[in-house]
Amino acid sequence: MSKKALIVYFTTTGNTQMLAESIEEGLELSGAEVVLKNVSDATSDEVTDYDLIALGCPAQGTEELDDTEFGPYFEETLPNLEGKNVILFGCYGWGDGEFMETWKEMATEGGVNVVETYINLETPDQDALDEAKALGERFAAI
Ligand SMILES: Cc1cc2nc3c(=O)[nH]c(=O)nc-3n(C[C@H](O)[C@H](O)[C@H](O)COP(=O)(O)O)c2cc1C
Repeated sequence: MSKKALIVYFTTTGNTQMLAESIEEGLELSGAEVVLKNVSDATSDEVTDYDLIALGCPAQGTEELDDTEFGPYFEETLPNLEGKNVILFGCYGWGDGEFMETWKEMATEGGVNVVETYINLETPDQDALDEAKALGERFAAI
């Protein structure tokens, strides 16, 4: 039976969405059944239906998750992610990716198995999209 994967992302200018779509492509190439959602369409309890969960959010605030939609979603969903295989991804700008370190720490402290993280500076180029696709392929193969 194929693995079920859920990708939930937040984006302001589309960069993180581009990564999400390449990760989706990679997961599908490796035979996973994928549902891709903007966080505004996601619910905190649906993660329990999936084997693999990929969460995407760009750096916002000061090295933080978006506090309007994604942050509250993540906080609410974290208890349901305990013991789950998760990858975290997102784009950033002027910082150094610290937001991802903090995010990974929050997830790990919540008992999540963070399989990999992936960050990209601003708009992904073809190489970055290929890396995101390869990440999806590896994730489906765990
Ligand atoms: C309100 C706001 C806050 C941001 N805060 C940070 C930050 O703390 N560190 C950083 O590296 N980039 C920061 N950025 C830059 C974005 O993370 C970056 O432009 C990213 O590529 C946006 O991805 P998206 O198109 O998926 O929203 C911020 C951007 C905005 C609009």
